[in-house]
Amino acid sequence: MTNAPQSFIPVAEPDIGELEEQYLLKAFRSGWISSLGEYVNRFETSFAGFCGADYGVAVANGTVALHLALLAAKVGPGDEVIVPPLTFVATAAAVKHVGATPVFVDCEPGIGTIDPHAIESAITSRTRCIVPVHLYGHPADMDPIMALANKHGLVVIEDAAEAHGAKYKGRKVGGIGHMGIFSFYGNKLITTGEGGMVVTGNPDFAARIQLLRDHAMDPARRYWHEEVGFNFRMTNLQAAIGCAQLERFDEIVAQRQRVLDTYREAFVEAGEIVVNPALSWAEPVPWLVCALLPGRFAGAQRDVLMARLRAEAIDSRPYFNMLCDMPPYRNGADDNPRSYPVARDLAMRGLNLPSSTALDRETIFHIAKLFRQAMAEAER
Ligand SMILES: Cc1ncc(COP(=O)(O)O)c(C=O)c1O
Repeated sequence: MTNAPQSFIPVAEPDIGELEEQYLLKAFRSGWISSLGEYVNRFETSFAGFCGADYGVAVANGTVALHLALLAAKVGPGDEVIVPPLTFVATAAAVKHVGATPVFVDCEPGIGTIDPHAIESAITSRTRCIVPVHLYGHPADMDPIMALANKHGLVVIEDAAEAHGAKYKGRKVGGIGHMGIFSFYGNKLITTGEGGMVVTGNPDFAARIQLLRDHAMDPARRYWHEEVGFNFRMTNLQAAIGCAQLERFDEIVAQRQRVLDTYREAFVEAGEIVVNPALSWAEPVPWLVCALLPGRFAGAQRDVLMARLRAEAIDSRPYFNMLCDMPPYRNGADDNPRSYPVARDLAMRGLNLPSSTALDRETIFHIAKLFRQAMAEAER
């Protein structure tokens, strides 16, 4: 290709700059490079405030944030937790880590978040918790989920790992449920390299998570442990980067939005491709560019298109695989290839295209053109 970019284009790259370097150096030079230091508290307070929550507890990653939130909700062996089948594995893995069983409920068309109207029939006497996932930056329909949780006495933990700053009917995600969790992995909208946070309005949940994060050491008696805890702490170095990223949140989101809008423009002629659909009540954030292909490109055909991009040094990734199909998460009766048809359809037709803030208009049009060519070739 003549105007093909020279180097590999990944799906997501962190947007880190001078402010991150400045804060990181300050933390580094202070000597507070482990999990004590001013930036951890500052990041917790500022990120909780950003979500409209009273408390933030910074942890090592989003997976352990979920793990601790489930423990704080007293979820354990024999319990069931309702989750969507189309999500990153961590949502269900954390449920397994606490000894409980993930129970899958199908998703909403187009956006792939859990279908609140399908939840009630999955609630049993063992259900303790619902974990809606704000998938690919789009919020789940929280009002009916909270109503169901109140009716049945369940705890709602929002998995907002992919949706920092997204709004549901004007409210930021993470601060709507009883707890919300976030990931700050390097491909997220804002990153600390590895990192996570639980936000909550409930002081008991916050205290419990703080305790378990730090070896369950008795706050009143050093090196005394009434129970088994974890070392799930975030370092001051990571939190320093997080503080800078949060200050730059609007700037980063504006750039990602520009990238998304440019794809929409570039795909306008390929009307069959739906880019980041959104429901009327949602204010999603542009985490990854999500392209939903027409049905004839589902599954293996989609993988052919992705291989064509890869041959031109352009990365893309398929939507998540259905968790209910994987050995650790198979649930007996659910274990059939026709289960959860809405989520399954999206899993087969969806892919993520390069989404980094560094992408310029020319490169995005180049990717879109290659993609359309690959679709035309596949149909010949
Ligand atoms: C929906 C979802 N939940 C949880 C996680 C876990 O976060 P982490 O990778 O920081 O452990 C991720 C992501 O990476 C995710 O996408």
